[in-house]
Amino acid sequence: MSKDNVHIFDTTLRDGEQVPGCKLDTKQKLVIADRLDQLGVDVIEAGFPISSPGDFKSVEEIAKLIKNATVCGLTRAVRKDIEVAAEALKFARRPRIHTGIGTSDSHIKHKFNSTREGIIERAVEAVKYAKSFVEDVEFYAEDAGRTDNEFLARICEEVIKAGATVLNIPDTTGYCLPEEYGAKMKYLRENVKGIHTAILSCHCHNDLGLATANSISGVINGARQIECTINGIGERAGNTSLEEVVMILRQHPYLNLDTHINSKLLYDTSLMVSQKMGMPVQPNKAIVGSNAFAHSSGIHQDGVIKNRETYEIMDPEDVGVNESSIVLTARSGRAALAYRAKKVGYELTKLQLDSVYVEFLKFADIKKEILDNDIHEIIGSSNINAER
Ligand code: KIV
Ligand code: ZN
Repeated sequence: MSKDNVHIFDTTLRDGEQVPGCKLDTKQKLVIADRLDQLGVDVIEAGFPISSPGDFKSVEEIAKLIKNATVCGLTRAVRKDIEVAAEALKFARRPRIHTGIGTSDSHIKHKFNSTREGIIERAVEAVKYAKSFVEDVEFYAEDAGRTDNEFLARICEEVIKAGATVLNIPDTTGYCLPEEYGAKMKYLRENVKGIHTAILSCHCHNDLGLATANSISGVINGARQIECTINGIGERAGNTSLEEVVMILRQHPYLNLDTHINSKLLYDTSLMVSQKMGMPVQPNKAIVGSNAFAHSSGIHQDGVIKNRETYEIMDPEDVGVNESSIVLTARSGRAALAYRAKKVGYELTKLQLDSVYVEFLKFADIKKEILDNDIHEIIGSSNINAER
């Protein structure tokens, strides 16, 4: 059975770049955009063109460069924003304007001092105006996670009538639980007239560490686009991490959902974004962290050496990591020591291994991690005649 495609909308260069310290210049943005296109993302959100002349220039240059992906620019529901975005996108092969407005009661009252009717009016006007420049218009209902479902359905219906092609349902504050976010998508799918003409999109923030789980729940319940960033960077605790959602869908084939991402480029892309933004990746980050395929406890190492599948649910090569690593610490066992010793050239007999292991534990209790050089030293001081 063929799988349904989930569109990957990458917002590393817009929501990701909003993070303090992550600002990129146009040249850096172009390199990342080019890599995102090779990676196979469906949409690149290149920036917020009205926000600064530099961002306008970046969006314009990315629009000229990108051959495959749709290039998107963010706007508020403001005519001038939309005009500037349309101008920045004019060279794009596939341009998209992403416009929208806050829809939760809190945003309506505190940000806009308006009413629900007033917000619908502005949303419809913005979508119609954006539609006068480009065919592909995505509408975002900011803070949809805390917006009452009935009102959300009403505004979605009105913007579809105005021409919206994609409906972005952001959990802007990262508040929703996966069940709740999934139920929101299901409600919209079942209650918005004309919904079959538009794509529902997940845009989840990670304030409670649920961005990935919420996005997956969203697509299980009918959404067909996920907005995400490389390494999950983004405002506050970040956005949904691209590499996580891609690999979750790939590792769970029974969901019948997949993306067009070339997963073998994930690790390299993570490294590139981390270096260009000066934003380190936490070692225990799923998929791309330096420990994601490192095994350090004796029980796990013994299992992985016998058969990788005992403790690995995916092949590291599928995400661009050469091989998993066996890290030697004081929690490692003989199997791991023999394995690493062999890698640096020693074939130890069982008796030799017993002696070396005693020496190894003395070292490992002092040092956090035993490296290749240490192995030579340990074997050298172990009173055995090991062959190299
Ligand atoms: O988190 C959010 O609501 C956003 C919108 C501007 C799409 O980033
Ligand atoms: Zn966001």
